[in-house]
Amino acid sequence: MIIDWPGLRAAATAAAERAYAPYSGLRVGAAGLAADGHVVTGCNVENASYGLTLCAECGLVSALHASGAGALHASGAEEIPASGAGPLRAVAVVAGDGQPLLPCGRCRQLLLEAGGGDLLVDTAEGPVELKVLLPAAFTGTDLADRREAPTKEAPTKEAPTKEAPMKEVP
Ligand code: THU
Repeated sequence: MIIDWPGLRAAATAAAERAYAPYSGLRVGAAGLAADGHVVTGCNVENASYGLTLCAECGLVSALHASGAGALHASGAEEIPASGAGPLRAVAVVAGDGQPLLPCGRCRQLLLEAGGGDLLVDTAEGPVELKVLLPAAFTGTDLADRREAPTKEAPTKEAPTKEAPMKEVP
């Protein structure tokens, strides 16, 4: 598919202008192209409780699914999606100055789920495959291969009885 990199970078720059980053002062915007042609964006949203900060890529991935672009791949809990099955094909992440910003480690993992290792990421040197930025990644395949079968039934919540009434929360 044809990727309009300047257009994607411009969409990311527009998103960065809407970022909420009063604590770090670093506005970030992200724009992604989905397999069905949708362009989705996200911006970083900070919080007085610093650890709650959402990176721009988090918003992008949420928008990807909310737009319906992820529908074909949005399985229920019944099966673990194969690595690389995600609908995202290209992504541009920029700072407030409009220049590319490499996604943080957590967001590389997030993008991997959304687009797989072949996802193209805009950099100052040109597009780079995500598998180059995140080699030897942990994927859903590792999870499926390595998880152990549950040993006992999950505890069930019992309905409150008359003998043990629910206490009122003060
Ligand atoms: N940030 C992003 O939005 N994406 C990244 O990939 C790197 C970091 C944001 C989070 C925080 O609001 C600010 O940049 C400084 O870390």
